Amino acid sequence: MAWLLPLIRLGMQEDLKYRLRQQQGYACFVAELQATTLQGGTLQAPEFQPTNPRNFQIVGTIEVSLRNPNFLGRPQFTYPYLANLAVHPDYRQQGIARRLIQMCEQKIVNWGAQDLYLHVLEENFPARKLYLDLGYSTQSLARMYGFHRQSRSLRIFLHKKI
Ligand SMILES: CC(C)(COP(=O)(O)OP(=O)(O)OC[C@H]1O[C@@H](n2cnc3c(N)ncnc32)[C@H](O)[C@@H]1OP(=O)(O)O)[C@@H](O)C(=O)NCCC(=O)NCCS
Repeated sequence: MAWLLPLIRLGMQEDLKYRLRQQQGYACFVAELQATTLQGGTLQAPEFQPTNPRNFQIVGTIEVSLRNPNFLGRPQFTYPYLANLAVHPDYRQQGIARRLIQMCEQKIVNWGAQDLYLHVLEENFPARKLYLDLGYSTQSLARMYGFHRQSRSLRIFLHKKI
């Protein structure tokens, strides 16, 4: 499937450009790692070599957007939704995800919203523990359908009132 990668990348780039063009109701936060803060001033993980003049690398990401649950109906009804939270494996359990989520919570308050939603897979125990610790609770459950085991998982819809 390697031949598909350039196409997938292009699709992602276009999707990101579209999202970043949105003036309201979308934000993306990243956690940056300064090279100088690492031991001896060098980056330890080989895939994390600095590639730009600012000499940092992204080690975590998160997005928050206003989502419409059903594009065919009720276009005026949207809700803030967290997505694409990920922290580089070498930098986990240092509070990065917690901080990224808190940034999003602050952002939706600035949007005048109070309720934040997200999905997490049943078997994703680290993420479930993280959300539970931060005060998210189960709103509903939905079984996914697909060929892969992961795509047949139970998806938990979580909610927090900020
Ligand atoms: C889930 C994930 C984002 C957590 O990132 P992180 O930066 O390591 O999380 P934090 O350091 O901010 O952890 C905050 C809390 O989350 C919980 N937590 C995080 N990782 C955990 C783990 N491996 N086991 C148990 N609890 C964990 C803990 O309650 C932790 O609080 P504590 O440090 O006081 O115990 C990260 O593991 C990841 O990127 N996983 C793959 C992508 C993913 O699953 N994203 C979520 C999709 S819904």
